[in-house]
Amino acid sequence: MAAKILDGKACAEEVLTLINNHLREKKSPVLVIYRIGDDPASAVYVRNKVRAAERVGIEAIIKHYPATTPYCEVWNRIEIDAANPFIDGMMVQLPLPEGWDERALIERIPPEKDVDGLTYANMGMLHEQACWHKPCTAKGIIWLLHENGIHLTGRHVVVVGRSEIVGKPVALLALDYNATVSICHSHTKNLAEITRQADILIVAVGKEKIITADMVKPGAVVVDVGINRTAEGKLVGDVDFDEVKEVASWITPVPGGVGPMTVAMLMVNTFHAQKSVTI
Ligand code: GUN
Repeated sequence: MAAKILDGKACAEEVLTLINNHLREKKSPVLVIYRIGDDPASAVYVRNKVRAAERVGIEAIIKHYPATTPYCEVWNRIEIDAANPFIDGMMVQLPLPEGWDERALIERIPPEKDVDGLTYANMGMLHEQACWHKPCTAKGIIWLLHENGIHLTGRHVVVVGRSEIVGKPVALLALDYNATVSICHSHTKNLAEITRQADILIVAVGKEKIITADMVKPGAVVVDVGINRTAEGKLVGDVDFDEVKEVASWITPVPGGVGPMTVAMLMVNTFHAQKSVTI
């Protein structure tokens, strides 16, 4: 029997409606997105974030700089915005052009305005859930699983990929939700042997079809974070969707799985940045 679809698009829509209901007739939170250079994928991501912000009643301001802009100009702008009480949330769209120091820019953002959850302060306190904001993709994955009645306690979660932005934070969150967690990466030996042990397999590598059906335990839940473009221009994940859906019990599609959840979580974090309301 084919796997059920973990529909991130529908789940994200519910989240956006919830925020919109809370924000109606109230002062809009302000989110500033810094975009540097002309990475085409970033243009799409930023557009999706602006659309979601419009949808829920968040004011998104894009500050777009050419890659040739002096580094100190962006640095100074972030510093000034950080002190502006009318700005609630700030994020630097990644990746930055070659030669730009991502970490140095991100660290200019105060943790309470770091709605991407990527500053050292927020990442460092993530394991105690004491951070101001959790990284959006990791939070979105946990939210999507939870909303579909998939719980983590006692389950073996295998994360493939150890990036700062997805792999490490989602592994930490899963651990906090009482999963047994394994993290695999480019030096892992016998990858398939480990992925086959996963009750929940989270793949965030950025390589098309790195996970095939023989690498998945029958009945496993498969979360595909990858976004790759095929030679024909089609968007696909890291998982061989057509094969793996016949083995898994649940699977996220690409597009329409984790991506919309990341955007929805950015809206949730921005909402929280303005008010300390729990939804
Ligand atoms: N580029 C791709 N995804 C993301 C994200 O979630 N946050 C940031 N800052 N950049 C990204």
